[in-house]
Amino acid sequence: PESGPYGVWRYSAGLPFEEGVSLPEGGTPLHYVPSIEEEVGVNNLRIKHEGMNPTGSFKDRGMTVGVRVAKEVGVDRLACASTGNTSAALAAYGARGGMETLVLLPAGKVAAGKVAQASLHGARILEVDGNFDSCLDIVQDLAARGEAYLLNSLNPFRLEGQKTIGLEIMERFHADEGTYPDRIVLPVGNAGNTAALYKCFRELREAGAIDESDVPKLTGVQAEGAAPMVEAVEEGNDEVRRWDEVETRATAIRIGNPVNAPKALPGIRETGGTAVAVSDEAITEAQRDLAEEGVGVEPASAASLAGLRKLRDSGEVDADEDVVCLTTGHLLKDPDAAYEAGGDPEPVPNDTEAVLDHIDDGSSV
Ligand code: F0G
Repeated sequence: PESGPYGVWRYSAGLPFEEGVSLPEGGTPLHYVPSIEEEVGVNNLRIKHEGMNPTGSFKDRGMTVGVRVAKEVGVDRLACASTGNTSAALAAYGARGGMETLVLLPAGKVAAGKVAQASLHGARILEVDGNFDSCLDIVQDLAARGEAYLLNSLNPFRLEGQKTIGLEIMERFHADEGTYPDRIVLPVGNAGNTAALYKCFRELREAGAIDESDVPKLTGVQAEGAAPMVEAVEEGNDEVRRWDEVETRATAIRIGNPVNAPKALPGIRETGGTAVAVSDEAITEAQRDLAEEGVGVEPASAASLAGLRKLRDSGEVDADEDVVCLTTGHLLKDPDAAYEAGGDPEPVPNDTEAVLDHIDDGSSV
């Protein structure tokens, strides 16, 4: 509809409230990328660009619900551990809701844009000498002691909001193509989004809105240096072994202990999906290719396309599939990574003739 609530809150029938603490969020584009679609070799490829949310990541969809709950409950301090995006979203939505926010970040491992957001929106930022998983351990302790209201994706209200990614994909794709996508490929860190999408599809089925055969195959992608979920899926385990050492250029998904795995693993299994690990080089290549289509994403987001390519190459994804890749965060989140993947600026003199000479030299990127 053209009037009424925008984005996430259009779907209030499936949410715990009629409205939230809103900026507003959701209503993100489902891009066509014809050249990549052809190169990958699938029937249909669309990019759901969650980087187009108010703070530049899908986390906003969860925060609009989670912070509303916090207001309802009357807590005065909100807290999260974060690889960056959750902290940016919490800081903004906390500010919007007039609440104090505390964020714990792994020191030196969070992209510049995200720390800048948390800082300007007024969060108190604590840099922990440890990785994300240690930050989350500490925040859980604080929450258990009643010192803060936890707004990581362990908070089920976050996932309620994130379900709307699935609703928007199903609605838009069906309106455009007359069918539902066969597969949704998404980057996995804590596996909150995977769990949220699975819940979305279960609820759509229970409501009779779709059939079992309409449910897209949930396909998770991790970086090779942080792939405990992939390990669990490949070995057919019901539990995930925590990785203590994790490393990847995609710092957003530099996570060794995916806390939502118990909710997400059944989703991958029961939808007939899979999980795959990709190299940092493949992530960078995918980030460049998306950028060449005008779609600017951060490294973790590009993992979805890199994963699709790998699964297409191995034959696990068929040529006749309709696929949606989720890109979870905006290019500007990680300016350093963007510079690394892109070309460097060329210094030129302050003079038109010299600029012309320089261009004609062909000494471009
Ligand atoms: N992509 C981006 C850009 C993210 O920031 C995250 C998670 C994920 C993917 C993974 O999503 O955890 O639902 O599997 N970022 C969290 C944070 C951990 O703190 O910002 P997930």
